Amino acid sequence: MAELEAVDRILDGFPEVKGNLIAILHAIQALDGYLPEASLRHLSKQTGVPLSQLYAVATFYHFFSLTPKGRHQVCVCLGTACHVKGSTRLLGEIEKRLGIQEGETTADMRYTLSTVRCVGNCSCAPVLLTDKETHGNVASKQVADILDRYE
Ligand code: FES
Repeated sequence: MAELEAVDRILDGFPEVKGNLIAILHAIQALDGYLPEASLRHLSKQTGVPLSQLYAVATFYHFFSLTPKGRHQVCVCLGTACHVKGSTRLLGEIEKRLGIQEGETTADMRYTLSTVRCVGNCSCAPVLLTDKETHGNVASKQVADILDRYE
């Protein structure tokens, strides 16, 4: 299976596993945007690291995902400054428009919606992140225009 061979190739680059577990998981996630169960089972078998430990690490860090992500990441800041400036309303508008809730991916795999607590850009609250772009002072009426830029 190509997916498992890719895990083997990643492991070849890490002679020492325990101290590099995060980096190895990052490399595996970079293959498909998430950590498939089959890859984690294979990693456990090849390294001797218990599967439960791999899941503990993968679920502890927010940057790891156990489910496939959409082609585009949409993230609403819900930190204090953004909350005060209406980010909850903004999140509601996005949820309504995409037909998904926070943490979910649209059926067409176009968008994954998430939230974050402050991205350090409070003077531009409320802040919306799309892939690597940051949008500041976002009003609900701008949501459709911003999302439609991403195919
Ligand atoms: S609270 Fe949103 S950027 Fe700081």
